[in-house]
Amino acid sequence: MPKVAIYPGSFDPVTNGHLDIVERGLKIFDKIIVAILYNPNKEYLFGLEERLEMLKDCLKKFKGVEIDSFDGLLVNYAAQRKAHAILRGLRAMSDFEYEFQMALMNRRLNREVQTVFLMTGLRWIFTSSSIIKEAIQFGGNIDGMVPDLVQAKLVQKFDLDTGSGQTGKN
Ligand code: PNS
Repeated sequence: MPKVAIYPGSFDPVTNGHLDIVERGLKIFDKIIVAILYNPNKEYLFGLEERLEMLKDCLKKFKGVEIDSFDGLLVNYAAQRKAHAILRGLRAMSDFEYEFQMALMNRRLNREVQTVFLMTGLRWIFTSSSIIKEAIQFGGNIDGMVPDLVQAKLVQKFDLDTGSGQTGKN
């Protein structure tokens, strides 16, 4: 039976840290379904379709990756997709409590689905979608933290002018 994992998240937007987890996850799993949670009660910078498009573009070079979205409980989605694992990246200590809580709850909800954590690459230890959005909207340079096409979308979203190559406000 192929080893299938769900890599769930908000991906608002996808970062190079996320891509690193997918690439390394493919060394363990035959197939990874990168799944965006559809939560109409939460505000996102990018709409669901935009996030799906960005993920598709960034991950098209990988075989064994599917992009999808889900709503409701993650373990129900995993069961529906015949996945036996949930893949999550772990950054510094701050992620641990939340991830531990979520993994235990998911295990309680469905003991057939195992959560597998990959330690984030050292390069991406402080990379998060939220911090990237915060930095770029105030003119901070985020080169190398997100794929080029995502950076271009962020620039567009915040109506920034990159001028001399530095990401900055008009
Ligand atoms: O990228 P994020 O925002 O940290 O991802 C969080 C996500 C989508 C993995 C989590 O919120 C989730 O799985 N939501 C679906 C509802 C659910 O099953 N929650 C966990 C058990 S209560």
